[in-house]
Amino acid sequence: MQQVNLGMIGGGTVGSGVFHAWQKNGDLLAARLGIKISFRKIAVKAIDEPRAYPIAPELLTTQWQEVVNDPEIQIVIELVGGTGIAKTMVLGALAQGKTVVTANKALLSAHGPELFAAAAKSGVNLYYEASVCGGIPIIKALREGLVANQFPAIYGIVNGTCNYILSRMKFEGADFATVLAEAQKQGYAETPPDLDIDGHDAAHKTGILGSLAHGFWVNHHQIHTEGIREVSKIDMEFAAKLGYTIKLLGIVKQAAVKNPGRKTLVQVSVYPALIPSAHVLANVNQVFNAVFVRGDIVGDTLFYGRGAGKDATASAVLSDVADAAQDLKHGNQMRVPPFVPTAQAGKVVPLDEVISQYYVRFSVVDKPGVLAKIAAIFAAANIGISSVFQPEGDEGASVPLILMIHDAPNAAMRKALARIAKLPAVKAKPVMFRVENLE
Ligand code: NDP
Ligand code: HSE
Repeated sequence: MQQVNLGMIGGGTVGSGVFHAWQKNGDLLAARLGIKISFRKIAVKAIDEPRAYPIAPELLTTQWQEVVNDPEIQIVIELVGGTGIAKTMVLGALAQGKTVVTANKALLSAHGPELFAAAAKSGVNLYYEASVCGGIPIIKALREGLVANQFPAIYGIVNGTCNYILSRMKFEGADFATVLAEAQKQGYAETPPDLDIDGHDAAHKTGILGSLAHGFWVNHHQIHTEGIREVSKIDMEFAAKLGYTIKLLGIVKQAAVKNPGRKTLVQVSVYPALIPSAHVLANVNQVFNAVFVRGDIVGDTLFYGRGAGKDATASAVLSDVADAAQDLKHGNQMRVPPFVPTAQAGKVVPLDEVISQYYVRFSVVDKPGVLAKIAAIFAAANIGISSVFQPEGDEGASVPLILMIHDAPNAAMRKALARIAKLPAVKAKPVMFRVENLE
């Protein structure tokens, strides 16, 4: 049987998970692929670091160059993370003509074109299934299973840490900081976890999905990104009363704006949104992720699974290893296109131009005329209110006032809210979330 040798850089949460999964199912993989896959070296920062799963000590080194430069290693798995040394490692491995498998969405997002150009120059593939949604094979789904489709809309719960935090806040009333610490302990969170909770990790992934779906490079600076710090229990409860659930969504959607040119204008954003509680995405909880993909031919599809964690992510990494091994077996190195095709088929539309619906919560003095003043500002901006909800409160006290807002451009909404915030009767910064009806 043909043999392929692996080298891995990183033996932390995901790396140790990959080693464990290979120990468990390596023989099964060999039987399925007709290729024996062996580990030759694994580089880590400190040999004695405690690991989620043990790694055979004889494989460990602290010199990542030993992995990249070993002529017996054909496939290098990068599981270090970040955009610094990991970039040097990946470029070093590609320059040595090795196929690279990575789970590093931050690196792909920041340096995708350069990395894919380096892979092309060396005539090898750069695989990245584990970079989006942990164990869900969404990259292969978009690139292969749904290749015959255009994608009018993709909505994803793509960050396990945020979904874990939001779910536990909603169902257990858990405190944000406590749940975040638990997500870190489980190995779900990035280093630092701000990457998760401020939406950047989701933006890295959403950009990759956008690039795959629309055939042009989505620079992460073009992605409007909001995290979950502003999501509170009170808004979760009001949203629920109105039939909605708040989720951090990655959105890749052909934009509802007038298209001035011939390019496809695509909204690529990450923000917490109200989605209908009856929708299947609203019922994706804990560390689970899901991606709802609308194809113009296939219709609506849903991909669901664990979005983070050592075992789920290892499954995705090993699926790339299997593809890479097949490439080597069949001498088919240029089979996989990167997510950065050279043809510029579209462009990202600024969020200000995107038309959305909104949930807004004001803290207002409970006296006659306040709603009229707020409504007048919205009316002057040509923004329509679709419903009003005001829980009972003591006259004169500050009470919540919730408005649901019809379709309006984000810029107009932003400006109207800034004006409303200055009204004397408005006692706190208005809280606004967009509403995505997923229709
Ligand atoms: P960890 O922090 O758990 O592991 C990082 C590993 O890199 C550690 O083993 C560390 O060594 C090693 N390392 C750091 N610097 C060096 C160096 N200079 N030379 C050699 N090894 C080094 O991270 P994760 O496993 O959680 O994440 C790895 C990648 O996978 C990231 O890109 C992440 O975004 C991505 N990812 C993570 C998921 C998850 O659920 N955790 C899911 C999907 C993707 P040591 O152990 O000695 O400290
Ligand atoms: N920190 C990431 C998350 C890991 O929580 O989704 C998986 O990419």
